[in-house]
Amino acid sequence: KKVYLNGKILDHKDAKISVFDRGFIFGDGIYEVMTQVNGDFFYADAHLERLSDCLQKVNIDFDVNSLLNDIKRLRKVSDLEFKDCLVYIQVTRGIAPRKHAYPKEVTPTVMMYIMPFELPEINQKHIKAVTTLDYRWGRCDIKMTSLLGNVMVNEYAMKHGAYEAILIREGIITEASHCNVFFTKNNIVYTHPSNNFILDGITRQIVIQLCHDLGIEIRQEAVKEQDIFLMDEVFLTGTTTQIVSVQQINEYSFYKGNNTGPITKKLQEAFLALKK
Ligand code: PDD
Repeated sequence: KKVYLNGKILDHKDAKISVFDRGFIFGDGIYEVMTQVNGDFFYADAHLERLSDCLQKVNIDFDVNSLLNDIKRLRKVSDLEFKDCLVYIQVTRGIAPRKHAYPKEVTPTVMMYIMPFELPEINQKHIKAVTTLDYRWGRCDIKMTSLLGNVMVNEYAMKHGAYEAILIREGIITEASHCNVFFTKNNIVYTHPSNNFILDGITRQIVIQLCHDLGIEIRQEAVKEQDIFLMDEVFLTGTTTQIVSVQQINEYSFYKGNNTGPITKKLQEAFLALKK
């Protein structure tokens, strides 16, 4: 397996990073995940723009403009030009003695890999989720590599036989451990507004646009935990998840049998059509 590290493409066994890298010591870095579908990177511009925005938010000085070419180089040497793939990109602040404040003269560490990825059969999966407290920090808009909060709540979901943990902060639903959350009620779609309490997912942005295109009313308003049971449909969105229908939250089932709600289905189909 090949890895891109600071301008070089190496065998993964030779790709080494200092133990003093701030990504390792502090989780001081930003990452991105995108897919390649039918030979094209899916919404690459949006992913790279978010990467650039997040880097700016934490003052990591790195220009993302050359990355797409480097990914293409990596794709070529990995012989993955014609396969559906997942691209992982991470930029950490770099190597410096361990002091909390941003070091002055530091070069970011850039690492990327690309691997084959089977896109989930989004129209068939029908998952279970559990709710848990959103005890992550207050800057969830930053796609940072320190994901321990997300890892812990996801582990909670796994322990409860669920695909995702739906997160509750002060009585409202924010997002999930690695997805955004949408609800529908009386043909209106609801999702948490994009602010510091969620990651503004690229898939989320696409789904909002699809709602506009399809004439489905969409409101960026958070749903209260206590109102979950009043909702008609629930679905999750994310790069690795796409759009997945939620059958059950905790003990409450939204559907009888294996149906997917009509709005979820419509959006899944429209989303799938974007990838053709
Ligand atoms: N997860 N919210 C969180 C906390 C996420 O980590 C992600 C993505 C999303 C959805 O964003 P997008 O639609 O841009 O993928 C929402 C990535 C894929 C991951 O960590 O693997």
